[in-house]
Amino acid sequence: MVNETTVSTEAPVSEVQNLTISAAGNNENQEQQKQAEQNVTPWDVEGAIVDGVQQAIDYERLIQKFGTRCIDEELLERFAKVTGHKPHLYLRRGVFFSHRDLEKILDRHEQGKPFYLYTGRGPSRGHMHLGHMMPFIFCKWLQDVFDVPLVVQLTDDEKFLFKEGLSVEETYQNSLNTVREIAAVGFKPEKTFIFSNLDYMGGAFYRNILQISRCITFNQAKAVFGFDASTSIGRIHFPGIQAAPAFCSTFPEIFGNRKDVPCLIPCGIDQDPYFRLTRDISQRLKHKKPSLIHGRFLPALQGTGSKMSSSVDSSAIFMDDTPAKIKNKINRYAFSGGQTSLEEHRKYGGNPDIDVPYLYLTYFVDDDKELADLAEGYKKGEITSGEMKARCIKELQDFVGAFQERERAITEENVNKFMDPSFPRPFAALSKK
Ligand code: TRP
Repeated sequence: MVNETTVSTEAPVSEVQNLTISAAGNNENQEQQKQAEQNVTPWDVEGAIVDGVQQAIDYERLIQKFGTRCIDEELLERFAKVTGHKPHLYLRRGVFFSHRDLEKILDRHEQGKPFYLYTGRGPSRGHMHLGHMMPFIFCKWLQDVFDVPLVVQLTDDEKFLFKEGLSVEETYQNSLNTVREIAAVGFKPEKTFIFSNLDYMGGAFYRNILQISRCITFNQAKAVFGFDASTSIGRIHFPGIQAAPAFCSTFPEIFGNRKDVPCLIPCGIDQDPYFRLTRDISQRLKHKKPSLIHGRFLPALQGTGSKMSSSVDSSAIFMDDTPAKIKNKINRYAFSGGQTSLEEHRKYGGNPDIDVPYLYLTYFVDDDKELADLAEGYKKGEITSGEMKARCIKELQDFVGAFQERERAITEENVNKFMDPSFPRPFAALSKK
């Protein structure tokens, strides 16, 4: 879907570039060996194919290609110093591994100046899966650490435009379900505004969209998103809609008439193209440039070459899966880095780096020592792959179970509060500079 196009000369500054990863090297045999570069776009995420075998996503390469910065030890130390909090396990373990201008947000916080968090979700039918939860869990933690407003965009319009056969009413219903699920992560309506694009379009939001869309040429959209002449004009117009919430003037109910509150956007690295473009536009429209913090994808049960997918039931753990279903999925589908027989496993040990149950545990086991012991024990063959699976099953059942309990308690009234732009969201820091 994404073509090799070159950067348009109309692109304002350096961050806007083609997101297609160009073919590496000039090996003549590439064709015969069935090589394919990794493909990471807002609509597709696939590892490279080498000799017909799907490889893990190469995140280092994405950092280089997209021109972002790696979150290194030094930045994490600064984070800990400025916030007084030990960095979240997603930061310590490189789940959120890349950023743009995160240090500027830390500077502001240090100076007592406000910022806000912006993230979003394309609401899909049914329930979210574990991979969808990660940015929200992380946002919740960031919100607790910084005490800042969070805005969540539900791109029901995007889903409608990019998914064949979906009706407008269905996509809106999916938004309402998604609010329930996001609420169940533990957010509070006093601090969090969750909006459906279908509802919120108009007012200050639409005014910003118009100004943004006037700045983006078709050439740029082609270069950044791989659109071509057969792409529907709805899709071509969409990027401005995802950009607008990055400017605080989109939310006068929260920020009054301030134009000077920047945001931090936690998102999957696949969403970077939208915000690369937004950052360039922000300078021209004299808005604050958004900062970004990028996450990796939670691997599919089948392994690190692809991410969990809503449309493939066996690739993901869904938030409405029963304990029995979770157990069955892990036991049946989770790719194991263990040896083929117990005897060999005891002798040679397993490989935690590709072991999906272990990898999932890295998202849940907060204790670094405990996690290191699991990896060590596995490598030595002391922990079997069955034991690793059992540990993972227990952790996921607990997490999903607790989530379901919180979700059952979310009422329609709760949902309405989150979605009400005028619901009082008083932030003391916003009245100061
Ligand atoms: N396009 C995203 C998706 O399909 C949704 C989204 C909108 C988003 N705004 C965002 C994601 C900001 C991260 C940050 O899921």
